[in-house]
Amino acid sequence: MAITIKKVLSNSKKILNEELGSSYQKNNFDAEYCLMEVLKKDRIFLHSSDETEISKHQLYQYNKLLKQRKSGRPLAQVLGWQSFFKNKFLVNRDVLIPRSETEILIPKILKKGDEIYDKNQSVTIIDAGAGTGCIGMSLALERKNWKIYLIENSPKVIDILLLNHKKFKLQNCKIICSNWLSSIESNVADILVSNPPYINKLAGDVEESVAKFEPESALFAIDNGLSEIKKIIIESRRIIKEKGLLFLENGYNQSENIVSILRKNYYKDIKTILDYNDIERFTVSQHP
Ligand SMILES: C[S@@+](CC[C@H](N)C(=O)[O-])C[C@H]1O[C@@H](n2cnc3c(N)ncnc32)[C@H](O)[C@@H]1O
Repeated sequence: MAITIKKVLSNSKKILNEELGSSYQKNNFDAEYCLMEVLKKDRIFLHSSDETEISKHQLYQYNKLLKQRKSGRPLAQVLGWQSFFKNKFLVNRDVLIPRSETEILIPKILKKGDEIYDKNQSVTIIDAGAGTGCIGMSLALERKNWKIYLIENSPKVIDILLLNHKKFKLQNCKIICSNWLSSIESNVADILVSNPPYINKLAGDVEESVAKFEPESALFAIDNGLSEIKKIIIESRRIIKEKGLLFLENGYNQSENIVSILRKNYYKDIKTILDYNDIERFTVSQHP
């Protein structure tokens, strides 16, 4: 029997609410996203043509997506992409799903980079722990004349980086396999940015679906979540040019410790940046 868009959506919204409970209430659009993906149509179409019938094959494809979402798998992994800044980044279960708060970094780095470019006519940016490439590639897409280096140590993550690199046809972006900054030449970066793993596993304050579906290597760090940030700060002193900038993302209660580590490493002009929930989420500082 043929089934309309309206019927599919109302049935599956009910199913998702039952299966996922309160975690699903936050995002009531997931069924719509799955259907938009299968029909290759936008939300306006879904709502303006909701008496349209969908084919058996489309229903089969849709049910496959819905089944994954019902199991709790994050929508981005079900769809295979996540929007970040102005673009859709390919995502799989080996990489961190780009977070909307990380987007806050992009205009800030663009602004600082433009100032550097005006003075030097060149800008080199390093994105350490690039994941999907969402930070570095967003910058590369906005500023074709900047040089961007994306660093990752995980071969599986590098596979996704290569796919995104190909998708965006980037000429100004290079992927480097390295344990943090160990393979990078000294004194090269005008700006180094990193969103490293920073969650303290022992504190148990990570959402269940994040811990279950996203890669441990992108999430957790020892030493109260500070071990990787500490390594990056220490190694960055060799990599960042004089007066260059270090942008870091951090956990909700780590800002004070990070400021202290930066001071110990002679970073100056240290500023904390808030996220959308007024949490001290980022630190920017200047290499001495
Ligand atoms: C929190 S994720 C951030 C991903 C991406 N930059 C973003 O903002 O969505 C941290 C990334 O650091 C990478 N990573 C962890 N340890 C690393 C190391 N020693 N060297 C290079 N990259 C590392 C992980 O594979 C992961 O992709």
